[in-house]
Amino acid sequence: MSTHPAPTVLLTGGAGYIGSHTAVTLLEAGYRLVVVDDLSNSSEVALDRVRQLAPGELVFHRLDLRDEQALDAVVAASGIDAVVHFAGLKAVGESVAEPLRYYEVNIGATISLLRVLQRHGVRRLVFSSSATVYGDPASVPVREDARLSTTNPYGRTKLVIEDLLRDVAAADPSWHVALLRYFNPVGAHPSGRIGEDPRGIPNNLMPFVMQVAVGRHPELVVFGDDYPTPDGTCIRDYIHVVDLAEGHRAALEHLDRLGGCRAVNLGTGNGSSVLEVVTEASRAVGRAIPHRVGPRREGDAPATYADPSLAAELFGWRATRTLADMCADAWRWQSANPHGYAEPIA
Ligand code: NAD
Ligand code: UFG
Repeated sequence: MSTHPAPTVLLTGGAGYIGSHTAVTLLEAGYRLVVVDDLSNSSEVALDRVRQLAPGELVFHRLDLRDEQALDAVVAASGIDAVVHFAGLKAVGESVAEPLRYYEVNIGATISLLRVLQRHGVRRLVFSSSATVYGDPASVPVREDARLSTTNPYGRTKLVIEDLLRDVAAADPSWHVALLRYFNPVGAHPSGRIGEDPRGIPNNLMPFVMQVAVGRHPELVVFGDDYPTPDGTCIRDYIHVVDLAEGHRAALEHLDRLGGCRAVNLGTGNGSSVLEVVTEASRAVGRAIPHRVGPRREGDAPATYADPSLAAELFGWRATRTLADMCADAWRWQSANPHGYAEPIA
């Protein structure tokens, strides 16, 4: 038997979409997990299912990260080795309507977390950043040294938190921080037991397509087909959420070698258009996804996809799952759970 206890990782926002998938991957790798989440955009059922999918120890505390006293008590009692900080609000349109709430929650939660970690000597952190920090990139594929800009309050909270973490790491060289810039996470665990369960009408393409497929909406509106791309629809770098989860595991394993604070893209390096996603989703579902072309959505970049080579170099990680895998797994989740984690209304 090993004399080393398994490392303990704190997952903030670990009941959410990306957090729950990362929890499965980390449990499978032998980590002990402490999840804190206020369930403002998630369900505890996701964590029950994570426990069914993977062996090991996962402890859950329901709290708002901004409750610094409650968070302090959890960290003091848990012997945390590293943190993955997922918690935050993420809807672009909502952030435009309620900017104050977005700044308060996303930045307030991060400051509270960092104060607690400083107090308890925890200096290893992985942060959920976003390709939104590249805005409409001047060229693709996008490298980490591309110019940063963003078009909405949600994106600005990511930029502020990236700066905050860079400053904290610069002030104290014992910090090791990875700013993981996710491209477009989609798909679900291949078991179909956990997946993306957005509240209200989804803003994002894949959950909307899947809800059309189960009959929750009559059709998809394609936001513009007059972009300067081969089929006229926007191009994005869709990445399977299990690849993304494995990217977090790889980042944690290599964190100590990063030296300070580093931004790293997590994407596949492949771009797919909206119509390509619709075609692949139709194949997975086994029938056509009804759709029509509507006007452009304000603020959409015509094409963005990652240069993922830094993650390969630093973490030895590469995405392996295809768009077909993403659609098949998203459909397995959606068809088995047409109302997500909620019980259907009788
Ligand atoms: P999610 O909403 O499913 O998960 C976020 C979790 O944080 C939720 O469970 C929510 O209840 C929790 N939370 C929110 N505010 C909290 C607070 N104050 N205290 C405690 N818990 C709180 O979102 P996700 O898709 O899993 O995203 C995770 C992270 O990745 C977010 O920071 C998001 O901005 C970032 N990100 C997501 C995407 C994407 O497309 N899903 C893309 C790029 C970056
Ligand atoms: N789209 C449609 N119809 C829909 C929804 C989306 O045609 O009903 C199109 C969009 O116009 C875009 C593509 O599908 O071309 C992907 O849209 P998503 O909203 O799924 O993804 P985005 O790339 O626009 O947004 C994502 C994240 C945001 C982040 C942003 C910027 O969801 O959090 O990337 O990187 F801010």
